[in-house]
Amino acid sequence: MSDAKDGKKGNGKGKYRSSAWYGPADMGGFIHRSWMRNQGLPSHVFDGRPVIGICNTKSEFNPCNAHFDIIADHVKRGVWEAGGFPVDFPVMSLGEITFRPTAMLFRNLAAMEVEEAIRGQPIDGVVLLVGCDKTTPSLMMGAASCDLPALAISGGPMLNGRYKGERIGSGTHVWKFSEAVKAGKMTVEEFMNAEAAMSRSPGHCMTMGTASTMASMVEALGMGMPENAAIPAADSRRGTLAHMAGRRIVEMVHEDLKMSKILTRQAFENAIRLNGAIGGSTNAVIHLIALAGRVGVPLTLEDWDRLGGEVPTLVNLMPSGEYLMEDFYYAGGLPAVIRVLGEKGMLHKDALTVNGKSIWENSKDAAIYDDKVILPWDKPLTAKGGIAVLRGNLAPDGAVLKPSAASPDLMKHRGRAVVFETIEHYYERINDASLDIDETCVMVLKNCGPKGYPGMAEVGNMGLPEKLLKKGVTDMVRISDARMSGTAYGTVVLHVSPEAAAGGPLALVADGDMIELDVPGRRLHLDVAEAELAKRRQAWTPPAPPMAGGYQKLYYDHVLQADRGADLDFLVGSRGAAVPRESH
Ligand code: FES
Repeated sequence: MSDAKDGKKGNGKGKYRSSAWYGPADMGGFIHRSWMRNQGLPSHVFDGRPVIGICNTKSEFNPCNAHFDIIADHVKRGVWEAGGFPVDFPVMSLGEITFRPTAMLFRNLAAMEVEEAIRGQPIDGVVLLVGCDKTTPSLMMGAASCDLPALAISGGPMLNGRYKGERIGSGTHVWKFSEAVKAGKMTVEEFMNAEAAMSRSPGHCMTMGTASTMASMVEALGMGMPENAAIPAADSRRGTLAHMAGRRIVEMVHEDLKMSKILTRQAFENAIRLNGAIGGSTNAVIHLIALAGRVGVPLTLEDWDRLGGEVPTLVNLMPSGEYLMEDFYYAGGLPAVIRVLGEKGMLHKDALTVNGKSIWENSKDAAIYDDKVILPWDKPLTAKGGIAVLRGNLAPDGAVLKPSAASPDLMKHRGRAVVFETIEHYYERINDASLDIDETCVMVLKNCGPKGYPGMAEVGNMGLPEKLLKKGVTDMVRISDARMSGTAYGTVVLHVSPEAAAGGPLALVADGDMIELDVPGRRLHLDVAEAELAKRRQAWTPPAPPMAGGYQKLYYDHVLQADRGADLDFLVGSRGAAVPRESH
């Protein structure tokens, strides 16, 4: 069967950028079409219709995204139906659990790959398949630097974990169970049995950890279809959403609805407020600042404190609360929370979203079906949610703390520092019976920031010493330049900037120094005389870079500090999607 007569080849000056590849009736056009046709494609798919790239982070090393080929198939159905031509392509998939030293080290590398993969190929609009923590920011950042029409589809959370009749949450219960084992309240056998009970379906972590937070941010920013955040991965409606998103991206190409038209200052402000209302992860601070940098929207730590701090945490999900993402979906999901914020005057209602409607049009009728999961405005989980930004001589460029995950009685605290120079030093020392530490001390961890670890690992919620756990201590003030898993909890000061490895004052803290934490006053103070600090600075030498060459050297030389989103300095901004030169 021949379909050659269907083909109407032109001069390559079609309506869309893909015409530069598939349009010309010359040798170049022949080459671009001919090789693609080995996949059984008829000639009419090259008739100038929009080519939709499906940026796929499927990887079996990244179990949170392992089901993405199924989602891609749903997207393809929608794209075909709307008259587009879908092409699925793989990009680096950062599995939070697997990548070492830490997936965050490679967020910017993946973003760089995504940017070049979109720009270098015949793509008119792109669907970003995101899920596990770093896959969402890396794909959004890379795509933003190209600025084509784009929308993101999250893979969806796992179904609720369940063990011995109780809900158990990804990550959150790993910390809880391992502390219970150390405290002698759980056997190792029980601990092992809980593994499969926690992760019992496809999908990403189902607590309000970083993946669920970022899936919510996708929806809050207007970059995802309504309900993107919470539909479980195993629910057939996740496939329906992907199908409709496939239809919609074709229309977005026709409308030339680029990312920069959606990622406005208003969109980021909406996202910050919604992060407060959902009790979202501190990691969102870094990722959204980095994303804003890609589209030229000024966003600072102060914006997080000012906008998010006035929003009560309404979503009662672990790690701060009791429930899980599956419950959140049944309770009304993010549209219901958006509706509440809109009614309270805390939403830019006309912010545009990928479906062509405003965020308010999408959410104004959303109902709450369970007010134990989405709490009433006057009975929140925390009256002032969001992220507290601390400053002082210990963090001149800022540090963050998540009040909803912290202990109220530690929000104002003065204590003696117990210092760990590196994460290895912490592991060596923490359970040493002779370690001079009690529950009033402040645990300080250095050299775990963007340069120091390298990659700013999620080790800031360092576990408490076994001897204190056995005494029944459940929280202590902890301070570091590291990040914390969104599934973790505690009175944990994170992202101290500048970090120790960059010569920040954190590098100068010594055992026995007194430290004052004042969250209401937004202050973090090292109570040591200036002259003494100057003496210590003289004696300080920077740690060696992690590697002499390769990506890790590039990263070390160019990574920005946490308060600026930890992007690479030369990746900030948009470079557009101008079609690269023809090679044939
Ligand atoms: Fe992938 Fe938590 S490990 S989302």
